[in-house]
Amino acid sequence: MLIKRGGDIRSGEITDQALYLNRRAFMVGAAALAFAPIMAAAGVPPPAGQPLAATRNKSFDLPDAMTKFQDATTYNNFYEFGVNKEDPSQLSGSFKPRPWKVQVDGLVQKPKTFDLDDVLKMAPLEERVYRMRCVEGWSMVIPWIGFPLSDLIKRVEPTGSAKYVEFSTLVDPAQFPGQKKGIFNFGGLDWPYTEGLRLDEALHPLTLMTVGMYGQVLPNQNGAPMRVVVPWKYGFKSAKSIVRIRFTADEPKTAWNKAAPQEYGFYSNVNPKVDHPRWSQATERRIGEFRRRETLMWNGYDQVASLYTGMDLKKQY
Ligand code: MTE
Repeated sequence: MLIKRGGDIRSGEITDQALYLNRRAFMVGAAALAFAPIMAAAGVPPPAGQPLAATRNKSFDLPDAMTKFQDATTYNNFYEFGVNKEDPSQLSGSFKPRPWKVQVDGLVQKPKTFDLDDVLKMAPLEERVYRMRCVEGWSMVIPWIGFPLSDLIKRVEPTGSAKYVEFSTLVDPAQFPGQKKGIFNFGGLDWPYTEGLRLDEALHPLTLMTVGMYGQVLPNQNGAPMRVVVPWKYGFKSAKSIVRIRFTADEPKTAWNKAAPQEYGFYSNVNPKVDHPRWSQATERRIGEFRRRETLMWNGYDQVASLYTGMDLKKQY
C-alpha cells in the first residue's frame, strides 16, 4: 500500500515475510508449530489469545490450505501502528480493545451507539474461511469469526436515501504510534482511516462483521475488537478497529483514495484484468507458498458479479 515516492514497493514486502519475523514472533511460531499436528487433527485453535466459540459455516469452506496463524498475525497492514509489516504485531501489545463502542448513525431511522458486548450478542457467531487478497500482490486464507454485517445494518433501519456506508477507525495517537506526528507517520494517510461500501455491498451476505479469527478473539494487530471483512475486494477495504459506521447518500471519501486517487479507487474489487498503475494484478503470492498463483476474478467469489452489472470495471476500479 505504499504510495510511490521515488522508490518502488520494497521487494521484502512481497517476497519473504520470514525475514521480518522478530524473535518473539519466532518463539510463538515455534510453539504453534509444535502443537500444529495435534491442533489440525482436533480442530483446536492455536495456543494463544482468548478462545471465541463459533459454528463453522461450511458453505464457505475452500479447497485452499489455510495460512498459518503466525503468518496471519505477524505480516499485517495496520498503518496506525506503522508502515512495516511487523509493526502491528510488535507495537499493538498495549492497545486496549475494551471497553469499546461503535456509533452507528447517518441516514438511519434508529441511530445507536452499541457496546462491544451488544455487538457480540447481535447474531450467532460463525466461522468462515475466506481468501484475502492484498492490493500489493500477496494473499492469505483466514478462518474469520463474525456475523453478516447485514444483521447490524437491519437493526438501525437505513432510510430510503442511504446509498453508502462509511467505516471509521479509532483515532488515538496515545495508542497508535502511526497517528503521532513524526517518524512512524510516513504512510501518507489522513486519520481516521476511513473506508466505504455501497449499501448493497455492505448488505451482501459475504460481508462479515468480524470479531475473531482462528478460534479466538481478534488479535490487536488484525483489527481488534471489530473490523469488517469484504473478501471479494482488496484487503484495504476491510477497515480495522471500527468506532463508527455512518450511512450516507454520497460515496464516502476513503483513506487510500484520498492519499493516491490514481492508484486506489472506491470499488477496489479484486480483478486480475485491471492492473495497478505500477504492477500487474494478474497473479499473487499466497503467504507460505513460493510459486505465484493466478488471481481469480472477484477473488473467486463469483456470487458478487451481479452487483456490478453494467459497470465499466476499468473506470470504476
Ligand atoms: N484498517 C486500518 N484501520 N488501517 C490500515 O492500515 N490496512 C488495510 C486493512 N485495514 C488497514 C486497515 C490493508 S492494506 C489490509 S491488506 C488489511 O487491513 C490487512 O488485514 P490483516 O492484517 O488482518 O491481514
